[in-house]
Amino acid sequence: MTEPELKGPIKAVHFVHRAILKEGQDFQEVTSMLDPDDQQGATELNNRLAAFERILKTHEDSEDLTLFPPLEARFPDIADTYEFDHNRHRGHAAALSATLSDLVGAQGGRRKELVKRLGEQAILFNGFMTLHIDKENELLFPTYDEVFSAEEQQAHGKAAEGRVSQQEMAAAGAWMFQRLDIEDREGFLTEMRGMLPSEAFAGMTQGLMRAIPASDWEALVRRMPGLGSMASRAH
Ligand SMILES: [Fe+2]
Ligand SMILES: [Fe+2]
Repeated sequence: MTEPELKGPIKAVHFVHRAILKEGQDFQEVTSMLDPDDQQGATELNNRLAAFERILKTHEDSEDLTLFPPLEARFPDIADTYEFDHNRHRGHAAALSATLSDLVGAQGGRRKELVKRLGEQAILFNGFMTLHIDKENELLFPTYDEVFSAEEQQAHGKAAEGRVSQQEMAAAGAWMFQRLDIEDREGFLTEMRGMLPSEAFAGMTQGLMRAIPASDWEALVRRMPGLGSMASRAH
């Protein structure tokens, strides 16, 4: 990964961005290989997209609430194109969802047509998402990190309280963790351990432990001494 380094709490955004990019790429690959007669595959993709849309909404709502207002206060209009992209992403996801819903109920030759459309829509969605995230990583967030101290960044995060529920945040965290490789899982937990009070970190760890296979968790505990007792203490 080549994202510019960030110093404040904003740096945790790189992990969720990597998970979103991975899902966009994987989604595109799976749609490109979908057999038009595979009804089960179409239903699974429909569910997978619904989960992706929910997580994306949580992430983008959080950005709209916590990061963009302080940036706009300092640099008028700087976040407009990013909010514009967020709306576009919802349009792309809605188009994919409509095609998948049609596919689930379609018969015969129409299925082939819909799978072709689905593949094209997935390429567009992934392409626009990648450009958006690259711009945030390389242009917007380095500016944010330069202008606001770690304390200010932490205070901005509170603007999401009561607007994005704890449940939504936990679901987004679990979804993200499932899509990270072991280095990024370790990196994310290391950041969070430095940022959260120990009780909150233990609670979060418990949820993340349940989100991944036991063997993956064990591999992580071997790399991070103390993590095992941290997770079990939250029982
Ligand atoms: Fe964004
Ligand atoms: Fe983002």
